[in-house]
Amino acid sequence: MSNSLLVCHALRKVYREAQLETEVLKEVGFSINAGELVGIVGASGSGKSTLLHLLGALDEPTSGDVFFKGQKLNAMNAGKQAKIRNQELGFVYQFHHLLADFSAVENVAMPLLIGGLAAEKARSKAESMLEQVGLKHRLEHRPAELSGGERQRVAIARALVNDPAIVLADEPTGNLDHKTALEIYDLMRKLNQESGTAFLVVTHDNELAGKLDRCMSMQDGVLSQVEVA
Ligand SMILES: Nc1ncnc2c1ncn2[C@@H]1O[C@H](COP(=O)(O)OP(=O)(O)OP(=O)(O)O)[C@@H](O)[C@H]1O
Ligand SMILES: [Mg+2]
Repeated sequence: MSNSLLVCHALRKVYREAQLETEVLKEVGFSINAGELVGIVGASGSGKSTLLHLLGALDEPTSGDVFFKGQKLNAMNAGKQAKIRNQELGFVYQFHHLLADFSAVENVAMPLLIGGLAAEKARSKAESMLEQVGLKHRLEHRPAELSGGERQRVAIARALVNDPAIVLADEPTGNLDHKTALEIYDLMRKLNQESGTAFLVVTHDNELAGKLDRCMSMQDGVLSQVEVA
């Protein structure tokens, strides 16, 4: 049996505005196995974020399919997609997207509360997740009281707290200095090894991409495998 977790088949995205058609993704196809750490590199505007949005069912493909654990994600109703987003996928963005009025532990507990877990259990699970990302001493800090690297650690903790099968990360270190970025990649590797969570990470930085298991490259909407030298 195949170990495929996330599979794309002939995925296309075309934006139409008045007379103008822009083909942003051109027959993209790939497969990610459970537990893999995969990178996507590519120039600005090449279609990386668009692809991640389709993989997370945040947007609909023009044609083609996304399969998650063998099920056609783009054919599911909105309720089922939302459930998979909450239970099976984690998201990390370039800008942390944490809720400003909530503490670190409250931010991390949020997906658990949305999933229906009791408040006390959610809090203790969020605390241990923050401990895993090295932030035991920052539980009550709000995002504005954290450094950029710490905020991304909170965002990663939030993405992982429901124990998803895969985390989709769109330039998670694009806003950080190089040393802090390297630390975040080491953290993703550690969490990947501890929990077996797969990661799909978009980056501009070839050195960072080199820290992952393998890498794909996006060029003008065409995705290709990067051969390891
Ligand atoms: N709603 C939209 N309507 C029309 N074109 C769009 C829309 N959203 C994105 N695009 C176009 O799709 C292309 C790919 O955008 P996308 O955000 O996926 O690029 P990216 O690879 O993530 O770039 P970056 O590295 O700068 O984040 C761009 O040329 C963009 O202008
Ligand atoms: Mg982008």
